[in-house]
Amino acid sequence: MFEHDVIIVGGGLAGCRAAVEIARTDPSLNVAVVAKTHPIRSHSVAAQGGIAATLKNVDSTDTWEAHAFDTVKGSDYLADQDAVEILTREAPDVVIDLEHMGVLFSRLNDGRIAQRAFGGHSHHRTCYAADKTGHAILHELVNNLRRYGVKIYQEWYVMRLILEEGQAKGLVMYRIEDGKIEVVRAKAVMFATGGYGRVYNTTSNDYASTGDGLAMTAAAGLPLEDMEFVQFHPTGLYPVGVLISEAVRGEGAYLINSEGERFMARYAPSRMELAPRDITSRAIAYEIRAGRGIHSDGSAGGPFVYLDLRHMGKEKIMSRVPFCWEEAHRLVGVDAVTQPMPVRPTIHYCMGGIPVNTNGQVRSSGEGLVDGFFSAGETACVSVHGANRLGSNSLLECVVYGRRTGAAIAQFVQKRKLPLVDEQRYITEAKQQIQTLLDQPGKYRINQVRQAFQDCMTQYCGVFRTEELMREGLLKLEELQQQYSQIYLDDKGDCWNTEIVEAMEMRSLMLVGRIILESAANRRESRGAHFREDYPERDDPNFLKHTMAYYSPAGIDIQYRHVAMTMFQPQERKY
Ligand code: FUM
Repeated sequence: MFEHDVIIVGGGLAGCRAAVEIARTDPSLNVAVVAKTHPIRSHSVAAQGGIAATLKNVDSTDTWEAHAFDTVKGSDYLADQDAVEILTREAPDVVIDLEHMGVLFSRLNDGRIAQRAFGGHSHHRTCYAADKTGHAILHELVNNLRRYGVKIYQEWYVMRLILEEGQAKGLVMYRIEDGKIEVVRAKAVMFATGGYGRVYNTTSNDYASTGDGLAMTAAAGLPLEDMEFVQFHPTGLYPVGVLISEAVRGEGAYLINSEGERFMARYAPSRMELAPRDITSRAIAYEIRAGRGIHSDGSAGGPFVYLDLRHMGKEKIMSRVPFCWEEAHRLVGVDAVTQPMPVRPTIHYCMGGIPVNTNGQVRSSGEGLVDGFFSAGETACVSVHGANRLGSNSLLECVVYGRRTGAAIAQFVQKRKLPLVDEQRYITEAKQQIQTLLDQPGKYRINQVRQAFQDCMTQYCGVFRTEELMREGLLKLEELQQQYSQIYLDDKGDCWNTEIVEAMEMRSLMLVGRIILESAANRRESRGAHFREDYPERDDPNFLKHTMAYYSPAGIDIQYRHVAMTMFQPQERKY
């Protein structure tokens, strides 16, 4: 059995930042990070547009209070405002700390960190490294893991959280290289496993974003919070769905329909293309629905709109958003200097997640906390994003709450012994689980079931939702669950058996998908990214509350938790 003071699952920004903080606080602690990819390949590396912080380098009138207000309004008033205050107050400090670690931010002519406009933000406050900001930050954080001697288990798939008597004790994990199963016991366990974009058929997320941490938490009987809030990024490159950063609009690009019109004037006249993502994504979906989308031959009635950069000029495009230019050129043969890019909304981010307090400790209920279990980043829900996240607040959340959670863990483990764990029991169970998958005589291939599942989630729980549609989706999911129990694996070996990993990921996807659908069906109002055509208005008297979904094999129990409100009272949300 492996033993560590702290084991962190996930090698992206939140996990790495927490590991660095623990090691800085108490270098004697034995800290490990386990990830199913190499940490440098975590999805954080794909973050493009930037990280928000009121450095005031471009706009001296900016304040953390303005950042907090924009964030709360953007969240459609569902964010917990105590958590937002921490996020926005600590932002400048964490960004300067990253700079001191060596992160290569883009600069103004006078050498200070450059800042750009971003959707839903009232000031130019997004710091960036061209359009590769996640790449720049993650590389420095991973360098720091090495510097501080953090043990890295790369390409291990974590199968299970060991949770006994309300206490997290460790993990069961599977080495992809050779199928070895190991139990790890630790004084504290942290999940920083990112999002679940692969629940849907078109996403900006990488192949590894399968919601494993969320599924393991739910399977352990703990709640997941606000899972109905699924963010569509307005500008996924059509048809592949990869991200074309909001930075492109931040630098001045237009959204255009088949009539050549900048249609955002109808939906958010004061912010135009820089409205928050829920509003912009719905606007694009309405335009397409109304027949003002565009076909590949340029005719009307098609499935995408244009993102037009041409007026920005080659020099600006190549210096500020070179990666987006490259993606469009490489993937769909569009030269954005001379041609508009085809875009439509793509699944991008999960506002909900594992409920945590502002120290990253996981909640077992509205009031209770789980001993020894922490979480941060996209997989956690400290609820700074509520019903809709503003762009460039996610890298910020990873770093602010990664650091806070790391500091809290460093404190927590001081007074704790390594827990007792029955290693043999967990190894036997995990081996049986793998053997069952290998022995199944089933008739379906994983990719068939996964595709059908992703299509089902996209069709029944997408931008526009109704009770009828979602109930149909839930029935369809039951059928697909049956098919999952009849999947057939071609590879029966233990050397790099990626089919086994895909089968385990598929189980995570299905569990998470079911919780999204149940949570969405139970929220009978429209708020942020959750839009119900049968309940098109926000309903504060009945639904200004967080969903807490408890999974058990018998079904999903939906409860609610209050929203922390400190500075801002809910108002009508107009842009
Ligand atoms: O559009 C983007 O560059 C994405 C940023 C974000 O999701 O924060």
